[in-house]
Amino acid sequence: MNVKTIQFVRRGEVVSLDNVPPDRTLLEVLREDLSCTGTKEGCGEGDCGACTVVLGEAEGSSIKYRAINSCIRMAHSVHGLAVWTVEDIAQTDGALHPAQQAMVDCHGSQCGFCTPGFVMSLFGMYQNHTCKGQPIGRELAQEELSGNLCRCTGYRPILDAATRMGSLPPQKVDEKAVLKQLKQIAAPAGEGEYLSPISLKGLLAARAANPKAQIVAGCTDVGLWVTKMHMQFPQILDVTKVAELRKVEKYPHHIAIGAAVTLTDAYAALVADRPQLKTFSNRFAGLPVRNSGTLGGNVANGSPIGDSMPLLIALGANVVLMSVRGHREMPLEKLYLGYRKNVMAPDEVVAWIKVPKPVKNEQLRAYKISKRYDDDISAVCLVVNLQVEAGTVRKASIGVGGVAATPVRATQAEAALTGQPWTVRAAKVAAGALRTEFQPISDMRASAAYRSEVLGNLMQRFWLESQGVTQINLESFRLEEAA
Ligand code: FES
Ligand code: FES
Repeated sequence: MNVKTIQFVRRGEVVSLDNVPPDRTLLEVLREDLSCTGTKEGCGEGDCGACTVVLGEAEGSSIKYRAINSCIRMAHSVHGLAVWTVEDIAQTDGALHPAQQAMVDCHGSQCGFCTPGFVMSLFGMYQNHTCKGQPIGRELAQEELSGNLCRCTGYRPILDAATRMGSLPPQKVDEKAVLKQLKQIAAPAGEGEYLSPISLKGLLAARAANPKAQIVAGCTDVGLWVTKMHMQFPQILDVTKVAELRKVEKYPHHIAIGAAVTLTDAYAALVADRPQLKTFSNRFAGLPVRNSGTLGGNVANGSPIGDSMPLLIALGANVVLMSVRGHREMPLEKLYLGYRKNVMAPDEVVAWIKVPKPVKNEQLRAYKISKRYDDDISAVCLVVNLQVEAGTVRKASIGVGGVAATPVRATQAEAALTGQPWTVRAAKVAAGALRTEFQPISDMRASAAYRSEVLGNLMQRFWLESQGVTQINLESFRLEEAA
């Protein structure tokens, strides 16, 4: 097979495309190479969802479906997967899929530009919930449509469509046929311009041999370097097919999250251990971004406004780096040297993130401050993790984002709390420390003064929540009641 060939299953056939450049996006391939213009480009940066398509991956005897943003996904990354676009889901006689029919019935479209993306997010929900007999309520609909923006219809009719799909005549994907076709596709090539190793050994060898290749995982940030900064990458090293790194492994005292585990799956594992993280997890970008992006990618990227790192720092997570020379492990915050600079050698990759299990008396809250509730980047992120025993703070672990060149640990606030009685006074002292510990910048997301002030305010909120005050919790807000 030509090293530049991509093969994927679409409309009941294996599609083969030759000579696709490594940094060509899936959206470009769909619209420009296959002339399938039903999938739209709105923002080109994973924000609006107009370009949403659904990927299917063999998982045993069934298919795992994920809605993703095709505008920032490299086309080569769908090699060996099934792809559905808005043009692929109606029946051959033209009868609309329930995701489409429900949008018609509920008047879910006006100008229509966002509609193909909404329909595909609905199709993903249909496959993942309706086809498994799980009803779709308004809250779930809102969660799973979090990556789709509509500027003219308004969301109520679209949310109505999501809840209506299940009452329409059912339509199923012929999974057996798709699985049979997926089996016909050979493993990705181990050499060339788009390297996609399938084993850890292969990944480490490829990294050692190609230290200048651009590493990608879900590509939810590197994709923007291509679409917005017009960067070109002559060679890409994709970690997402490395079998060992696609697992969450459970141990008595920690879980090890492989660097290729999607944010959706990684946060599901974190929420399973700490249910209070559910809201925070849902607010990490929109679902299509979480379905592509990986925890390892978020960590390796090291953006100071990435949401995972403050959380992982507060949880006391370690990162494991690997190369052909061996491995090393360090607390996550030690990975970073400066703005998007880290300690990794040219032949090293992030392999695992090890997250300790919850301990007795752990009080943990994660706060994200952004201009929009869903689908937005944090201005400030604060995660506070205290171990309080007999009224005294035995251990304080606080991670912060949006206030420095890297994600950081709030060592001064931690020191102010450790060993102190957990009282309103201690919380106020910690709030004061948080307000002065960092020198944030002013940018389009928030002013420096706002960032400092809100950090302290969040610590005061943490105190109130630790005392059982619930009205200020997002979790206490019931969407159904407010509707
Ligand atoms: Fe907006 Fe892809 S075009 S998310
Ligand atoms: Fe116009 Fe949604 S229908 S943007």
